[in-house]
Amino acid sequence: MAQQSTYELIGGAETIRKLVEAFYPKVQRNQEIGHLFPEDITPVMEKQYMFLTQFFGGPALYTDAFGHPMMRARHLPFEITETRAKAWLSCMNEALAEIELSEPLRALVLEKLAGPAYHFINTAE
Ligand code: HEM
Repeated sequence: MAQQSTYELIGGAETIRKLVEAFYPKVQRNQEIGHLFPEDITPVMEKQYMFLTQFFGGPALYTDAFGHPMMRARHLPFEITETRAKAWLSCMNEALAEIELSEPLRALVLEKLAGPAYHFINTAE
């Protein structure tokens, strides 16, 4: 049997949608990173839905719409420090708890996102 993708394991589109909807209100309220985001968060949520879908092994929604993700480059306009990367991951951890994703999937998702989050750091504290 072919190995299941993380996308399939966590419950596909429905889970990613719930996760993104739980995540951004936390990001917006977060002291370290909230101010970096636009007030109208809907377009960011939609892009994140598309990106995470393909990042976890689902359909390539983001690339189909916007081309190569180049995510580190897309984050260069924003000063991303280690503190901010940790804040982003902490919001994600809370969102995963809120949607009640079970272990070990929760840890798997966080671990997969920690790589890019730390990779996007572009500014010293
Ligand atoms: C490390 C801490 C991070 C910070 C502080 C951060 C911050 C931001 C900000 C300010 C934007 C732009 C919002 C806008 O004005 O449109 C953005 C966009 C985005 N971020 Fe992050 N981000 C972080 C990590 C991540 C990670 C780990 C991922 C996914 C693995 C991610 C995925 C995205 C996506 C998909 C977009 C939309 C890109 C687009 O415009 O097409 N971010 N992020």
